[in-house]
Amino acid sequence: MTVPFSEVFLQELAERNDIVDVVGGYVRLTKRSGANLFGLCPFHSEKTPSFSVSPDKQIYHCFGCGKGGSVISFIMEIENLSFPDAVAFLARRAGMPLPEQEDNGESRRRERLLALNRDAARFFHEQLRAPGGQAARDYLARRQLSGRTVTRFGLGFAPDSWDSLTRAMKAGGYSERELFDAGLVRRGKSSGVYDTFRNRLMFPVIDVRGHVIGFSGRILGDGEPKYMNSPETAVFSKSHNLFALNLAKKSKSGYLILVEGNVDVASLHQAGFDCAVASLGTSLTPEQARLLSRYTSEIVIAYDNDGAGQKAAQRAIGILEKLDLRVRVLALEGAKDPDEYLKTFGADAFRNLLDRSENHIEYRLKTVQNQYDLTVDEQKVAFLKEAAGVIAQLPGEVEREVYAMRVASTTGVPEQVVQDEVARQRKQRLRRAQREETRAQLRPAYKAQKAAGGVRYENPRSAAAEEGIIRLLYYDPGLFSGREIDAARFSSPELGRLYAALAARKGGPVNLAALSEALTPAEISLLTSIIERSSDVSNGEKELDDYIRILRTEGCLNRGAPDLLALANQLKEQKGYGGKDGHE
Ligand code: GTP
Ligand code: MN
Repeated sequence: MTVPFSEVFLQELAERNDIVDVVGGYVRLTKRSGANLFGLCPFHSEKTPSFSVSPDKQIYHCFGCGKGGSVISFIMEIENLSFPDAVAFLARRAGMPLPEQEDNGESRRRERLLALNRDAARFFHEQLRAPGGQAARDYLARRQLSGRTVTRFGLGFAPDSWDSLTRAMKAGGYSERELFDAGLVRRGKSSGVYDTFRNRLMFPVIDVRGHVIGFSGRILGDGEPKYMNSPETAVFSKSHNLFALNLAKKSKSGYLILVEGNVDVASLHQAGFDCAVASLGTSLTPEQARLLSRYTSEIVIAYDNDGAGQKAAQRAIGILEKLDLRVRVLALEGAKDPDEYLKTFGADAFRNLLDRSENHIEYRLKTVQNQYDLTVDEQKVAFLKEAAGVIAQLPGEVEREVYAMRVASTTGVPEQVVQDEVARQRKQRLRRAQREETRAQLRPAYKAQKAAGGVRYENPRSAAAEEGIIRLLYYDPGLFSGREIDAARFSSPELGRLYAALAARKGGPVNLAALSEALTPAEISLLTSIIERSSDVSNGEKELDDYIRILRTEGCLNRGAPDLLALANQLKEQKGYGGKDGHE
């Protein structure tokens, strides 16, 4: 059973978790004109910011997908947490004790796993200085990784032993089960467990909020497997995280460098390139790309200089492009990877490389060109088609023209021919995009999202008044004392429910965060879109009179809409509503 949080507690929770700070941890917010901050919506894919955060009202609202709400709804949505877990999450963030903890089994387990990972990272780190850590110290010296780098990344050493971590963590109060759940031990054939990571250089993986969520362990020297990673656990997902993003997100360089290896990341940071990150042994996933896009609008790919690396770069470009990120690619000539490049040519040479790195179009055109022999006519035509396809993707007309010109001159084909082919392919692309858009709009999820932003009302005039009433009730509940409004007259059942939820609060101060418990996410979004518009209640008395008059003439007389009392009771019964897990 869920015990509801008190309103006082939820209010304090919301006050101590400023929405700008919290949302700012996930979305790059910029100030335009006016009081609101804007960014790219984290809940749907978009290229121009329609996601707004109001510091005054402490709400967020996306004009694109219609999602909106308080700081609690935001955490529920983005962290995929139930209401109680989102509350626990924010309480932890603000250092507030939870009033009622028995019920947070799931989040408590997560917290234990994170604490265990943190303690394991400390243990590994200490081992690096222990007598048994000589081999690891030698290896670090060989790779020229400094003490500062070791500290910066919290590097460690997993001793050459079957149970040293297990023993240390058990002594720290963790159970075998917890060690297993964290992926730090494996079960033996007969019985018992043994340490997963043995005799390895340990790279803790730290998420953007500073939690140690897993580990990458590199073998000291040659051997197989070169790397071992934590398995997927309740707190670790390889496809959703990047190594060193916790550090790189603070970089002032304005772009992020994407590399393949953890050692490459460490070397780059050490050489002053503090914006390097690596995907965790997988090729770049769309989720990782989206995560990157929260922190930058430009990515420089510096993958290994081999066939696999170049193929992975092509794939990454495709994924990053979809999010409208600017992509550049480094050609690491004369070295197999960024680490070797730095060692061979030095940091200045790498800086140079960065400064004159090709934008991805040049890079792609060159890669395409390498596949064809342009002295053979058929191949020339094939190259032309493929190159035109690359150019057709460019959003800018001038850019398209410039590259079409370049292709014309490399192939010796008249410029107009290239231009026409680009135009033809571009039309094709646009048609395809339109078809996809239409199909997406027909999907139920899209419709549901839309409905949250702009419910289609049966009686728009009455609905406007109903929304006005809700807005006034939210900002100035005092206006309502002595005035009778029958929720049954509301023409829109959605608005009737909102009214009832607010009115059930008997004139106390209304707090959206506290309402997140009683209302569904869609209802919260609708409420947010209403209170988002204006908080001006200077003319409240008169406005309210007008609205009530409209409601009397326009509102439904008795359409069988649920009455206020019934709704209020219904809401009270739903008190334990727990968002995503609300079905228990
Ligand atoms: P060196 O330069 O050889 O020291 O290694 P690196 O850190 O640059 O890594 P490398 O470029 O060889 O590999 C890139 C990434 O792929 C690593 O950081 C790992 O995450 C992952 N990886 C490499 N080898 C293995 C392996 O054997 N198993 C697993 N699971 N992942 C690996
Ligand atoms: Mn490498």
